[in-house]
Amino acid sequence: MTAHRLARTRSFTRRGDRMLKRSHQEAWDRYAGDLVLDVPRPHGEGSTAVDPAYRIDPAQIFGRSAPLVIEIGSGSGDALVHAATERPEWDFIALEVWRPGIGHTLAKMGREPLTNVRFVEADAAIALRTLLPPGSAHEVWTFFPDPWPKTRHHKRRLVSPDFADTVAALVQPDGRWRLATDWDHYAGAMRQVLDGHTAWELVSTGRAPLRPMTRFERRGTEAGRQITDLAYRRHP
Ligand SMILES: C[S@@+](CC[C@H](N)C(=O)[O-])C[C@H]1O[C@@H](n2cnc3c(N)ncnc32)[C@H](O)[C@@H]1O
Repeated sequence: MTAHRLARTRSFTRRGDRMLKRSHQEAWDRYAGDLVLDVPRPHGEGSTAVDPAYRIDPAQIFGRSAPLVIEIGSGSGDALVHAATERPEWDFIALEVWRPGIGHTLAKMGREPLTNVRFVEADAAIALRTLLPPGSAHEVWTFFPDPWPKTRHHKRRLVSPDFADTVAALVQPDGRWRLATDWDHYAGAMRQVLDGHTAWELVSTGRAPLRPMTRFERRGTEAGRQITDLAYRRHP
């Protein structure tokens, strides 16, 4: 089998390079040492993979035991910064492959870093299989995942049966997986995967609490697309 055929179908492409705008780089230089977790990479620096033998302990990282939210694909951090500010009693770990997005999020924190937020620069589809203890998340959020609207690209979509298993292992009984998308076809595909999954039960189609308006929602609405919110409960 060729290396190409062995490569995983990814839910993302490496957009441009990892160059950050100056203000985002300054925020990165100021905060990344404390807030971006330094995880071991099996394929060297610049890889989006995390050594599968490596585990993080949220209680040790945050120095407390608190409800944990995992945000997958936090982008420029609008939801993350809003929610972490509104819920100082919760902890948040964001997985994002796009370093400029993490830099932008750090810049949004302003002069005071949010002590209840950490980042892992990694492909969540793979890293979440091993990185965190099973049942450690109170909630998982996947807001406006890349839609991959072309039929030939649907296999790149993050929400798949495999990924639903990964998230099910991560979320504690009665916890939630909250999703939002502005693409009807993807919303239908999410429902097909999750409504048919034994670990998940649809409990709400209302707007997720703490989900602010973001560029992606605004762009979708302006283009005439409908926003779908889905909240699934993890069966005990
Ligand atoms: C369309 S953006 C949405 C960003 C944000 N959730 C929002 O609503 O503004 C999707 C984000 O998911 C990230 N992403 C895509 N696949 C990912 C993966 N497998 N692991 C981590 N992040 C991923 C992309 O880099 C991008 O920043």
